[in-house]
Amino acid sequence: MISKFNAKEITVNGETFEILIDEQTIQKRVAELGEEISRDYEGKVPIFIGVLNGSVIFFSDLIRNIYINCEVDFLKLSSYGDAKISSGNVRLIKELNADIKNRDIIIVEDIVDTGLSIVYMKELLRSQNPASIKIVTLLHKPEATKYDIQLDYVGFQIPNRFVIGYGLDHTQKYRNLRSIYALKN
Ligand code: IMP
Ligand code: MG
Repeated sequence: MISKFNAKEITVNGETFEILIDEQTIQKRVAELGEEISRDYEGKVPIFIGVLNGSVIFFSDLIRNIYINCEVDFLKLSSYGDAKISSGNVRLIKELNADIKNRDIIIVEDIVDTGLSIVYMKELLRSQNPASIKIVTLLHKPEATKYDIQLDYVGFQIPNRFVIGYGLDHTQKYRNLRSIYALKN
């Protein structure tokens, strides 16, 4: 057992993580994002594109707060390996299935760190001629972002700390935590 749901602190391989954003706060913000996106896309049928694996929890909560018609698809990137710091190169592991030509695309990310993944995906998707591409990310670390990117919807801006939970992993574990935890320094 890692801990019962929503513990204040958890220990991972001898390192302590403390709660940064609790379950209730996340759920409230995700509902607001769903409302905002639904309003912005009224009359359209956007395709939400989840970035595996990290965005799955956010993705499934977000689309249940969307009250217009939409479609979903997924792509998978690898950039981090098992390290806590971005490796600085991105690989595509799983391509899209959907035909996105002339469609409104919304990329759903768990977190934007350096911004490299976003730059890579935007370029990749733009070459398939969608009508529009917007980005929604649950978390953004502005201090870590090195690329000039536009984020259309941001759940929370957070300090430059390593975080886990609500989809975010530490060596592939802890994605199932309901709250977001940050490494204590
Ligand atoms: P970027 O390309 O540097 O912006 O990195 C984005 C990806 O790195 C995210 O989609 C996450 O999968 C991963 N990532 C960045 N920061 C963290 C973190 O603090 N914890 C867990 N994963 C992270
Ligand atoms: Mg990710």
